[in-house]
Amino acid sequence: MDKPKSPTVYGPTSDAAERQLPSKVTVPGLLQRKAKGQKILCLTAYDYPTARLIDEAGFDLILVGDSMANVVLGHASTLKISLDQIISATRAVKRAVDRPLVVADMPFGTYHVSNEVTISNALRLVREGGAQAVKIEGPRFERIDALVEADIPVIAHLGLLPQSINARGGFKIQGKTIDAAKQLLEDALTAQECGATAVVLEGVPEVVATRISQRLIIPTIGIGAGGGCDGQILVFHDVVGLTTGPVPKFAKRYAHLADEISNALGKLKDDLRSGEFPTAEHCYPASEEIPADWDSL
Ligand code: KIV
Repeated sequence: MDKPKSPTVYGPTSDAAERQLPSKVTVPGLLQRKAKGQKILCLTAYDYPTARLIDEAGFDLILVGDSMANVVLGHASTLKISLDQIISATRAVKRAVDRPLVVADMPFGTYHVSNEVTISNALRLVREGGAQAVKIEGPRFERIDALVEADIPVIAHLGLLPQSINARGGFKIQGKTIDAAKQLLEDALTAQECGATAVVLEGVPEVVATRISQRLIIPTIGIGAGGGCDGQILVFHDVVGLTTGPVPKFAKRYAHLADEISNALGKLKDDLRSGEFPTAEHCYPASEEIPADWDSL
């Protein structure tokens, strides 16, 4: 007889529970992690194999970031990525993962026009992409309110805002004066009041990000904001050495995959030229004896 299925309120038994995987990370789970003092471990991913590896490594949250524009698609800024591109990448990531929370970035222009347009774009990320939350840049409280009202969890991204490169004249570290730090804190508190799930703090002095993290109930996720945040996020390609071009000072490199890949391609090229590859072990046998001049038989 079949093993009795563990009950869930709606729908079938969760696959993860059946396979005894560690429990899935949820939006309320992020808050609990902060309350328990557990660091929230986050990385970006834009494809299936990477997302699998990140899940297997035990990370809590995967962001399908608009940094895909830079590190995957070769654009100079994040402004060029489309909603369809993020949806397609989010689908691939969602297919790959069991445990981490999957968050999709709302691309530039998709939440700037009105609350209605913002909600319909965010709904596409949730319904078509499978995102469990979305992230928007800047202190856009009206949008945060509207998304929360529509039952779409939202992460607010404050500090250095890559989508504001034109408006701000570059990628500038934020919160560097007491006045600027107070404004950041106020923005983070207002985002929390509006119902944001978490706040990403990018490019902010450590002392500022640490204090903001202490003042908020919701978690902060830092990138270039020091060690005092409740979680950390980095761009996958920066961490594993796949970024072409400069890597930001705050990113630590844990592997040199671009070098590994170059070495592998060099060896393949040599083998192809010398005939070392392919050999018999890479070929399929025929099902009868076939002479070399079989076409003349
Ligand atoms: O797109 C991105 O990668 C981000 C960062 C927070 C990592 O927004």
